[in-house]
Amino acid sequence: MATMRAYATGADLRAMQELTQRLWSVRSSYHVGDLAWGRLMYPPELTEWPIALWEDGGRVVAWGWANLPGDFRLQVDPEHPELMGEVLQWFKSLADGQPVAITTLDVEEGLRSALAGYGYLQDPHETAFFAHHRRSLRRLPDPVVPPGFVVRPVSGAADLVRRVAVHRRSWNSTKVTEESYRALMGAWPYRADLDWVAEGPDGEFAASCLIWLDDQHRVGLIEPVGTVPEFRRQGLSRAVCLAALHSLRDAGGSTAIVCPRGDTGYPIPQRLYRGMGFRRQARTIPYLG
Ligand SMILES: CC(C)(COP(=O)(O)OP(=O)(O)OC[C@H]1O[C@@H](n2cnc3c(N)ncnc32)[C@H](O)[C@@H]1OP(=O)(O)O)[C@@H](O)C(=O)NCCC(=O)NCCS
Repeated sequence: MATMRAYATGADLRAMQELTQRLWSVRSSYHVGDLAWGRLMYPPELTEWPIALWEDGGRVVAWGWANLPGDFRLQVDPEHPELMGEVLQWFKSLADGQPVAITTLDVEEGLRSALAGYGYLQDPHETAFFAHHRRSLRRLPDPVVPPGFVVRPVSGAADLVRRVAVHRRSWNSTKVTEESYRALMGAWPYRADLDWVAEGPDGEFAASCLIWLDDQHRVGLIEPVGTVPEFRRQGLSRAVCLAALHSLRDAGGSTAIVCPRGDTGYPIPQRLYRGMGFRRQARTIPYLG
């Protein structure tokens, strides 16, 4: 029988990733990189998200993650379907009377029918959605780097300050910090050779692309990508992503995935990825319960 306990340390993230990797298929909502990026991108004071693990025989067979107030995530081993109800009950206890919102993929029929069985309904007021895209790493175009820039992987901690700066400026957000990025660099499956930047003539970084490799399935997740505002529309993101994808292939990857917004409210990233040969394979469907 599975027992539940609260998330405590980085070792628990690794144990959750073990389940995510074991369950991964092209129809999965989560990749091991989603968990690393999602859990570690911000410093601890901004991430007081309740996470619980259900374990059986020494391994995680379900996890639930409450990005309060409105975003609940879960994965349940199909061999333990009875845990779905326990995870959903735990979400309810945290939601303080508010609806529990869970995002699925259109191709996750098992999860969607399980949620329907627990009374969850598709959210009729959805405005934005994410579109999961995939690309084989065969026939990758070569990156074309704009004059004056160099595209390269980061050289570990020596590039930390500029690496964090390019992310913060690209996303117009100060939530990612040197402390959080240092922790991220120490987490599995981060690899500096899959963390690429475009360095400008002044030595500052102008664009970045981070890829997470699931070595078991040979699939890399691109998350995140950004170009600082003054250098946009010069081909830098395309160049840095293509260079990172070549590196992914060199590291043993055979496929890459990326999950930009799919609605018309934020269309540019999807154009960037489609222009590199990515094609849509699924889209998110939100449920409320
Ligand atoms: C999305 C983003 C990374 C694009 O970076 P960029 O360096 O400007 O992109 P590129 O110059 O390499 O453009 C590649 C392709 O993307 C598309 N694109 C980029 N900017 C565009 C714009 N303003 N309008 C329309 N299409 C655009 C085009 O298809 C372009 O190819 P083209 O120039 O041959 O038409 C950048 O706008 C950004 O950092 N945005 C904020 C962070 C973000 O949303 N990241 C992606 C999340 S999944």
